[in-house]
Amino acid sequence: MTSILSIRDLSVRFSTPEGEVKAVSDVSLDINKGECLGIVGESGSGKSQLFISIMGLLADNGQVDGTAKFQGDDLLKLPRRKLNKIRGDRMSMIFQDPMTCLTPHLTIAKQLTEVLKFHKGASEANARKRALELLDMVRIPEAANRIDMYPHEFSGGMRQRVMIAMGLLCEPELLIADEPSTALDVTVQAQIIDLLNELKRETGTAIIMITHDLGVVAGICDRVNVMYAGQFVETGTVQEIFYDPQHPYTRGLLGSMPRLDQIRDEHLTAIPGQPPNLQNLPAGCNFQERCTFAFDPCWQTDPPLEEFSPGRCKACFYQGFDNSQKGAAS
Ligand SMILES: Nc1ncnc2c1ncn2[C@@H]1O[C@H](COP(=O)(O)OP(=O)(O)OP(=O)(O)O)[C@@H](O)[C@H]1O
Ligand SMILES: [Mg+2]
Repeated sequence: MTSILSIRDLSVRFSTPEGEVKAVSDVSLDINKGECLGIVGESGSGKSQLFISIMGLLADNGQVDGTAKFQGDDLLKLPRRKLNKIRGDRMSMIFQDPMTCLTPHLTIAKQLTEVLKFHKGASEANARKRALELLDMVRIPEAANRIDMYPHEFSGGMRQRVMIAMGLLCEPELLIADEPSTALDVTVQAQIIDLLNELKRETGTAIIMITHDLGVVAGICDRVNVMYAGQFVETGTVQEIFYDPQHPYTRGLLGSMPRLDQIRDEHLTAIPGQPPNLQNLPAGCNFQERCTFAFDPCWQTDPPLEEFSPGRCKACFYQGFDNSQKGAAS
């Protein structure tokens, strides 16, 4: 199957007065039509900047290298006008902080209808009708009354849902959802996950789901890439990652998740310490300082991300994890 988005060796660096920040280092991924890929990792691991860079929205002090092919076009080399056309129409991103994307002095109606008029050439009346449908779909109460309000008149959770509606307006082929449900209460969160699942099933939209929440991953993702200090350290299907984690960091993430107590054993505990400073990464493996399994090679060499069984990759020298007894799915 050909992928919708194919990223190769993508790096994002920021120059700051204190030195260069390596936010993303040599990351590659593929996502196919109708698939949901989860990106998980601690705060500051580079999840948002990876996708902000392919949307062409990096801060002025940022630089991106590598390739990001969206159905053949390298997004990192497209002229701004062409990128604008793809963005919001065939590919859209739901941002972590809704206020970065909603314009404070325009009503919600104006912001939603402009997108449809610009990308789809919709008439004012049709655009408004469609915008209302979407607001209903993301369960904005009394959408017909609220559509003419301004963003500050909405609660944080409602603004997040408006962002989701905006992301879905043009029925994109690829939706990048950055922590779309963290600001929402649990029942609305479940409804949003249902909505995205439906979208994936019915329209074949590919979804990249960036999240801290492994419950969200289990609810919607097909595959997962685990990110640490700007790199992918493990990739696999959801089942493989949950029931046969092979990187100590993945095991740490799962170990700090209270609900998966069936895979807890003496090796699965919360991760000690802090992620490394991205301005001054350690020699060898980026995770070595926090890793209870680190041994000689880990201090010298950064382990490359390598395939160890079909579709399964890890960046780790340690070979001793056997999940077939305690960790296996029952
Ligand atoms: N403009 C900038 N200048 C310097 N450093 C930056 C800039 N923007 C982001 N960073 C740094 O890039 C790194 C990756 O940030 P990113 O927002 O991608 O993390 P994240 O994984 O999305 O975290 P979270 O889960 O908290 O959203 C962080 O260390 C952040 O401080
Ligand atoms: Mg983020």
